[in-house]
Amino acid sequence: MTAGIERLAVYVPSFSLPLAELARARGVPPEKMTQGLGVEAMAIAPPCEDVVTMAATAGARLLRAAGIDPDTIGMLLVATETGVDNAKPVAIFVHELLGVGRRCRVYELKHACYAGTAGLMTAADWVRAGGGRPRRALVIAADIARYALGSPGEPTQGAGAVAMLVGAEPKALALDEETGTYADNVYDFWRPIGRREALVDGKYSVECYLEALAGAFTAYRAGERPLLGPDEALADRLTRLLYHTPFPKMAMKAHRRLVELDWRAAPARWARVGPGVEDAAVASYREAVAPGLAAVARVGNTYTASLYLCLASLLEAEGAGLAGRRLGLFSYGSGCCAEFFTGTVSPDVAAVADAGVGDVLARRTVIDVAEYERLAGAGEAGGEPPPGFMGEFVLHGIRNDRREYGRVRAALAA
Ligand code: HMG
Repeated sequence: MTAGIERLAVYVPSFSLPLAELARARGVPPEKMTQGLGVEAMAIAPPCEDVVTMAATAGARLLRAAGIDPDTIGMLLVATETGVDNAKPVAIFVHELLGVGRRCRVYELKHACYAGTAGLMTAADWVRAGGGRPRRALVIAADIARYALGSPGEPTQGAGAVAMLVGAEPKALALDEETGTYADNVYDFWRPIGRREALVDGKYSVECYLEALAGAFTAYRAGERPLLGPDEALADRLTRLLYHTPFPKMAMKAHRRLVELDWRAAPARWARVGPGVEDAAVASYREAVAPGLAAVARVGNTYTASLYLCLASLLEAEGAGLAGRRLGLFSYGSGCCAEFFTGTVSPDVAAVADAGVGDVLARRTVIDVAEYERLAGAGEAGGEPPPGFMGEFVLHGIRNDRREYGRVRAALAA
């Protein structure tokens, strides 16, 4: 039975810090961040915003755009590694803010940046298991990526949420059932309970990511149907490749590894693209990967939402041009678990391609390093939304260890 993504909606916080400015403040050549990592700017959340308000805003926009009655949602999953409570799930706050009905399975998922994919796969399987019953799930991936000020991870922060409607009429992307998975217990990136900023073994995390890519892609390649011929590249069956993107250069490294693996399996075919793996990877990256990176380069790492921000921005930019085409997606969550999967863009994609990415990025307010450092120090205390705030919900504050949320007044949210 067909299952997949019917529509996506994106929300990104209102503030944006240009990376060239951060580089200057840290005494680093700006090119190291803008070219070495490939990041132009990162999204910064104000104190009135947390993962609940971001997820709810993306969810509200999605339900409105799709014209869906919240009461028809039978499963609501929020994937995040920026949870706000050790027991109470982000998803139940979102459930209330969106007005989803009581006959709904609601929970939060965590596995670093992999949780969004875990949510998507769970929801797609649940839709398939329903047989002919009309099942519809709302899966929201949302995160705030935070590292210590001045640390190597600092330029790879960001924030955002992507909401996906998962059902049996996937007008955005129909998911193939076969996937390739990989898991290993590694200490590449972690955030002990009570810490706000993540700890990371940066260079090792890049190695872990690439190792997991090799495992998941190889598993997928072996299970691909119809079977690949002896000199057939899997990349030839995929028009675009999207990767979990903590920073755009990581997607380039990932694609190089994928081409190397595909090359080993189909050397004569790849040799026609370039004289060596390096040239072939560069040529194929330009065509198949770079088009999906425009938004992440301006938002930064959104952890578990990152892959889906790439998907939303790709469909929004290319829409009808990709109708009927197959995409490859790679999800990586530190710790680690990874999955390579594929899907086909619907012939009707043009009707659902607008995920609000261009709009939300165009309306952001640029801040300087002093303001960014002030916001980083302020934390998530809650309060009044700042001028230019684009979210629809705010964290009013925390009283008696209970978080209080509400809707932003209509004039502010417009
Ligand atoms: P670093 O030490 O700042 O940077 O750490 P570097 O010295 O490795 O330089 C970065 C690149 O800039 C290099 O390019 C340099 O050559 C280049 P590469 O060799 O890699 O192609 N460079 C320059 N380019 C132009 N002009 C210059 C210049 N100078 C240097 N002047 C690191 C980089 C990624 C390690 C750091 O930012 C970090 O720790 N980030 C956080 C961890 C991370 O993002 N890891 C990615 C894989 S793990 C993952 O994706 C999961 C994650 O999202 C979490 C989750 O699962 O929840 C993180």
